[in-house]
Amino acid sequence: MARITNLSGRVVFDSRGDKTIEVEVSIDGVKGRAAAPAGKSRGKREVEPYPAGGPEEAVRVLSSVVAPKLVGHEYSSFIELDKTLQEIDGTPSFSKIGGNTALATSVAALSAYAALTGEPIYRIISRETRQEPGLPLPLGNVLGGGKHAGQGAPEIQEYLVIPLNPRTIHEAVEANIRVHRALGEILSKRVGGFPLGKGDEGGYAPPISVEAALEAVKMAADTVEDAMGIRLGMGLDVAAGSIYDESSRRYVLKSQGLYLDREGFLNYLAGLAERVNLVYIEDPFIEDDPDTFAKLRKKLPNTLICGDDLVVTRRELIEDCLRRGAINAAIIKPNQVGSLYLTWQAVEACLQGGAVPVASHRSGETTDTYLSHIAVGMGCKVMKAGVLGGERVAKANELLRIGEEVGASRVRRIA
Ligand code: PGA
Ligand code: ZN
Repeated sequence: MARITNLSGRVVFDSRGDKTIEVEVSIDGVKGRAAAPAGKSRGKREVEPYPAGGPEEAVRVLSSVVAPKLVGHEYSSFIELDKTLQEIDGTPSFSKIGGNTALATSVAALSAYAALTGEPIYRIISRETRQEPGLPLPLGNVLGGGKHAGQGAPEIQEYLVIPLNPRTIHEAVEANIRVHRALGEILSKRVGGFPLGKGDEGGYAPPISVEAALEAVKMAADTVEDAMGIRLGMGLDVAAGSIYDESSRRYVLKSQGLYLDREGFLNYLAGLAERVNLVYIEDPFIEDDPDTFAKLRKKLPNTLICGDDLVVTRRELIEDCLRRGAINAAIIKPNQVGSLYLTWQAVEACLQGGAVPVASHRSGETTDTYLSHIAVGMGCKVMKAGVLGGERVAKANELLRIGEEVGASRVRRIA
């Protein structure tokens, strides 16, 4: 008998210093705990993270609406609990209890159940999803711009690296850290007066142009490739919604003096991809333009064209974009849908459609490590969780621990 015996919440702070909700659930007296992250460059179709009134109101709703329904409830699976949470909320966008409230409750319950049964979370997930546990390739942000950084940083949001053929998860995690370190040395020599400040996700945020940023990251990655004898790929999260000017319908990169319409921006990105060999481009265009995604996919058949704001972890949007040939990868952010069950639905749509699911953090994070368990247990080939900063390293370190159980060399591949 596994029964929810207690449920409570509190307001805590995330890595940006913003308030978020943390939930504690006890099952048969054994406690589990989880907090929710927060995005800053959010897709329009994400669920509401909180009821009107924010995290404080969410904690009140948790105790007045959710707890009375769930205390005494028999816990059988995250899928069953998530369906119950959706029923309790009763709105399509989780606006009554908040997607963050629902997600934190679901993960806290799963953690309690894991503690009660003595099984790790990823294994419980993998049994329900019928995926063989395996480790994701870490995709790491080493340089940040756009909404995650201050004025003067490059407009494109994330400059990423990914080890392509690591022998072990240790090697994979270490490679990204070494690129970050090498990049710091390059920037301190090249960018006068830059005190190595960082953006929200722990990547450096130097006052340089988009192309100078890309070149510096490439140089750092090349050094680490040679030193470690592994292949590293590079990627970008354009987060196109944050560089798009609605009134002129142009993508604006002031640091490059560029004001481009969608065709012009398409050609620009394709040129960059060829020049530095980008293996991954996320949200290259605004979220209501899947047709231009599809054109880029055609131009760059060997690059992962990944949807984030475009598909917001929703099965039906991923399926639609796959039918249109707009993407071959999708970002999986559990709090975009507020539910582990709906998260799995999105991952399953990727796997069934031959696309790469990329489990992802948010720019405002906590030190929780459940994202790593989701990636391992749901079959995500890639996990994007930053490189440095305690809240990012926590997730990488959890992969090292899981590696001790599933085998450190069982790292998934994208190519
Ligand atoms: P967010 O951005 O967490 O600030 O929404 C991350 C991303 O765009 O991938
Ligand atoms: Zn993104």
